[in-house]
Amino acid sequence: MAYKAAQAGVARHLATRRIRDLAQRLLGWYDRHRRVLPWRTPTDRRADPYRVWLSEIMLQQTTVQVVAAYYRKFLARWPTVEALALAPLDDVLAAWAGLGYYARARNLHKAAKAVAEMGGRFPYTVEELRKLPGVGAYTAGAMAAIAFGAREAAMDANAERVIARLFAVEEPLPRAKKKLLELGRSLVPEKRPGDFAQALMDLGALICTVKSPACGKCPWTDECVARQRGIAETLPAKGAKPVRPLKRGAAFVVRNAAGAVLLVKRPEKGLLGGMLQPPLGPWGVAFPSREEALAQAPFRASWKKLPGIVRHGFTHFELEIEVWVARSPYTRGQKKGKWVASDELGDVALPTVMRKIIAHAITDEGPLFAQAKSARRR
Ligand code: ADE
Repeated sequence: MAYKAAQAGVARHLATRRIRDLAQRLLGWYDRHRRVLPWRTPTDRRADPYRVWLSEIMLQQTTVQVVAAYYRKFLARWPTVEALALAPLDDVLAAWAGLGYYARARNLHKAAKAVAEMGGRFPYTVEELRKLPGVGAYTAGAMAAIAFGAREAAMDANAERVIARLFAVEEPLPRAKKKLLELGRSLVPEKRPGDFAQALMDLGALICTVKSPACGKCPWTDECVARQRGIAETLPAKGAKPVRPLKRGAAFVVRNAAGAVLLVKRPEKGLLGGMLQPPLGPWGVAFPSREEALAQAPFRASWKKLPGIVRHGFTHFELEIEVWVARSPYTRGQKKGKWVASDELGDVALPTVMRKIIAHAITDEGPLFAQAKSARRR
């Protein structure tokens, strides 16, 4: 039904034969130029649904380059969905640390348990796949097509851009999403739908780029309506971006005589739920005054505010944190926290923003975390 409707829509632009021709040309291009990525199987081999699922969850908000290393690490440690289901959540969170959007890791673990309960077999329809925690329309489409050969589309940002340009869809995102999905679905061939999905992603990543698309190398250049009209680079149009509010607060990095750092666990629910952090005050519109900051500190000590601030961007707000440091004579006995040796900080579930804060505070041991940069301004 959905196909018929979508085909009818597309027919206004293209005849069925040309639709088939478009798919063939894209697949031909993919066979010559596809990216070699660790989760991809050769076209003649069946994909392992566990691997497809794991990679697609990781790729939801993270780049291909960053995901590759995490994907290999997860697969080496938990080679099957059952192995992942048996892992303690804290181990999964610690292995995920640095990938961001930690709800994904919690959902990954929950979904692994659910699939393990189904005998380790993933469901194979979009409707059933969407019932798994963390699996939305995009991931379900990608899994159905790549792992199970179903005639489904996987419309990530790259694929949306290609389709918006091919048909010159000028309606802005996110409103245009449904239309782009319909148009994308109408092009999916009966054979090799998984390759088609990934070919669309690769075309978007390599040729039909946001800026300066390489239209001369595109297998769809002759059909691309946006190119014909000279508006390719302006599509897809985006609705007005909401301004992200700025929040500010104070962090308290305390080290004991052995150099260990005090970490506390965040509440299980909410942002970065259950992850570790140095003690932090509440986040408001302004930094706390000195008196307020000292009242927020985890205990009385001779706290010193460091110059500079740490900045971090979350999806819905920007965060600026000032960092206070102190030494503690204690090595044990902190009721709500635990001391973590500085050479073990890499092994615990610390979100990137917390790594930045600690790296900012620990200046005497060189950079602790390669990816954690702090902003030293004041
Ligand atoms: N982004 C999301 N899924 C992907 C995949 N399977 N290949 C490349 N990029 C992707």
